[in-house]
Amino acid sequence: MKYIALPGGKRLSKIGLGVSRFGTRVSDELATAMLDRFCDAGGTLVDTARNYYEWVENGRGKSEEFLGRWMEQRNCRDKLVVSTKGGVSNQGKRFYINLSREALLTELEESLEALRTNYIDIYLLHRDEPKRPVEEIVDSLQEIAEVGKCSSIGVCNWQCERICAANSYAERHGLIPIRIVQTWWSMASYTETMWDDPTTTHMDQDTAEYCRNHSCIAMAYTSQAKGFFQKACAVGVEQLDPMLKHRMLTKENLEKLQKLNAYRAKTGCTPTDVVLGYITSNSLDGTALVSCSSLEQLEDVLNSADYELPEAMIQYLDQ
Ligand SMILES: NC(=O)c1ccc[n+]([C@@H]2O[C@H](COP(=O)([O-])OP(=O)(O)OC[C@H]3O[C@@H](n4cnc5c(N)ncnc54)[C@H](OP(=O)(O)O)[C@@H]3O)[C@@H](O)[C@H]2O)c1
Repeated sequence: MKYIALPGGKRLSKIGLGVSRFGTRVSDELATAMLDRFCDAGGTLVDTARNYYEWVENGRGKSEEFLGRWMEQRNCRDKLVVSTKGGVSNQGKRFYINLSREALLTELEESLEALRTNYIDIYLLHRDEPKRPVEEIVDSLQEIAEVGKCSSIGVCNWQCERICAANSYAERHGLIPIRIVQTWWSMASYTETMWDDPTTTHMDQDTAEYCRNHSCIAMAYTSQAKGFFQKACAVGVEQLDPMLKHRMLTKENLEKLQKLNAYRAKTGCTPTDVVLGYITSNSLDGTALVSCSSLEQLEDVLNSADYELPEAMIQYLDQ
């Protein structure tokens, strides 16, 4: 496992386990086995959110609650880097964004209780609310950091210009800056059909440069492009699930698949080595959030955790 040092001394594993479906869509037995295995393999980063699976009946908070119970049973809270998020609630599939101070502090208290902890390592705003001034949001984040005893704060799905504006305000006033940027980032090219949600963002050149120049950690969600490349290598593009085809099948991604296959033939590496190496070997300080549907998929991910993908191959994939 590769790591990034966090302020406060903890190590952030460059593979993070997304536990969004735990407590609702994944059986407790499988979720427990995955968390146990991930930690045994040296994983430290676990990623959740207050509103995960709020879109299923009684889903709100279930992911955090499951993680809280498991950490208590295993007595392992201090070994983990827990990342959670607030600022969004759902009614059905509809997202409601509210980054007011009151809403955020209420959600933070709920997260602390659900996670059975008195601190959050990384607190993230799940979305942006562009009409709300960044100054107000940054001021609220200071309180969040204090109440949640957070070692790092950050944002998900924010455009680069808003991150810049927030951090220049923080710098001018001696406040805690945004140091974690979570966005859709993978070796796959962007497709509108991946999320079909205008409130999400993807890694673009401006955000990459910003993170590089301001020592921000880029937390990649959907870092495996939902398994598009691995599944295409295993069964062929034609046999892919229609939803995966709808989300990922573009000329650019087919070209990337060809490059991956040629590299695999030359080096003998696995598809997951390339998919995850693209993030964990990147010159941008990155961590790949993954979620897995089985222990076999998790094992495949963990087998690739140390893989070094050469910079030249990363650049070739990006061409
Ligand atoms: N901040 C945000 O807005 C945001 C948005 C999305 C996600 N996230 C976070 O990021 C985490 C990961 O996101 P994600 O689930 O989209 O990531 P992902 O790892 O790209 O996709 C997960 C899917 O990929 C497939 N897969 C996983 N490992 C595989 C392997 N070794 N070989 C082949 N296929 C494999 C599985 O699909 P099948 O089930 O079809 O086999 C699995 O359900 C989430 O849990 C959440 O914590 C954050």
